[in-house]
Amino acid sequence: DSTLRLAVIEGDGIGQEVVPQGLRVLRAALEPAGVTVETTPFDLGAGRWHRTGETLTDEDMSRLAEHDAILLGAVGDPQVPSGVLERGLLLKLRFGFDHFVNLRPTRLVPGVSTPLAEPGEVDFLVVREGTEGPYVGNGGSMRTGTPLEVATEVSLNTAVGVERVVRYAFEQAAARRGKLTLVHKHNVLVHAGHLWRRVVDEVGAEFPGVSVDYAHVDAMMIYLVQDPARFDVIVTDNLFGDIVTDLAGAIGGGIGLAASGNINPTGAFPSMFEPVHGSAPDIAGKDLADPTATVLSVALLLDHLGHAGPAQKVRDAVEADLAERASLGARGTVAIGDALVAAVTER
Ligand code: NAD
Ligand code: IPM
Ligand code: MN
Repeated sequence: DSTLRLAVIEGDGIGQEVVPQGLRVLRAALEPAGVTVETTPFDLGAGRWHRTGETLTDEDMSRLAEHDAILLGAVGDPQVPSGVLERGLLLKLRFGFDHFVNLRPTRLVPGVSTPLAEPGEVDFLVVREGTEGPYVGNGGSMRTGTPLEVATEVSLNTAVGVERVVRYAFEQAAARRGKLTLVHKHNVLVHAGHLWRRVVDEVGAEFPGVSVDYAHVDAMMIYLVQDPARFDVIVTDNLFGDIVTDLAGAIGGGIGLAASGNINPTGAFPSMFEPVHGSAPDIAGKDLADPTATVLSVALLLDHLGHAGPAQKVRDAVEADLAERASLGARGTVAIGDALVAAVTER
């Protein structure tokens, strides 16, 4: 028997409702495999910030680093200035633990309703860069509040940073349907865009079995809505990836189903798994949040830690549950969690 040491950050809003359901499913999937899940709860988010003014201390970081993985709900709160928790907590974790791969799969499963009339077979994987781009905080403002105010957010792109995420994307494409799409805007963002393009050409030469194409991010919004089935692996920078994956979530049946992994493939730091959605203050505390995105993030966590069998069980359970949804009527967070635990236990 073995032990999985999991750091748990429920965070804010519906994060506190969906994470407990994800944990129940995780335990149900691993118990039959003889793996014990040992959780350490971390009090991080709006509550702690209000009480202490702290977002994420060095001590929190070193304690988190002692775990095999991190499960996170969501952060962000209307009572906390925008950016304080998003940057000071979530991005600090992604940057500090060098989560350079932000993995966000979309698979439209039978029975799930999508806003697209004829979606076809949708199964693509967005590999979003997680540690660079306009997210790094390389900016500032001058003459704030005056008519002459200046504000900058300069996108950071390094050859090493682009290469490592592009290589990861090619490896994924080689193991899937052999198609990779670079999304950028190199007709305007010529400095970063041409670096990304060159790196894709160079790394692509090592993957002759993978065909490469390119879409500007604006046109990508058209293609994703008109013909999402044509995509296999999509690789893009941090900000474009953020935008593309909310649209991907909608295509795949709603943001309540969209899962993600913030991965450090080297294993130097624990990877972190979280739903794509946020803290959803509009529905928080009402048992209305769909925990499925968190449960599918748990499946990514299981895959990452080498538990392929339990991961597949979780995905099969979700798929079976989704297939029944249309006939079941409205269910709350806990009821969906109950159903998923039962379905995993059955398998
Ligand atoms: P959001 O994802 O929280 O909500 C967008 C919409 O989707 C809302 O209508 C919400 O009710 C709905 N929704 C989200 N998750 C759902 C679920 N599981 N089931 C059913 N409906 C769901 O995005 P937002 O409103 O732009 O942001 C709210 C806060 O969350 C902000 O503070 C933002 O910064 C933060 N945020 C955090 C993360 C994260 O922690 N990873 C991600 C996105 C936004
Ligand atoms: C996401 C969120 C985050 C992002 C925010 C809250 C920092 O939107 O996980 O998609 O932009 O990456
Ligand atoms: Mn986002």
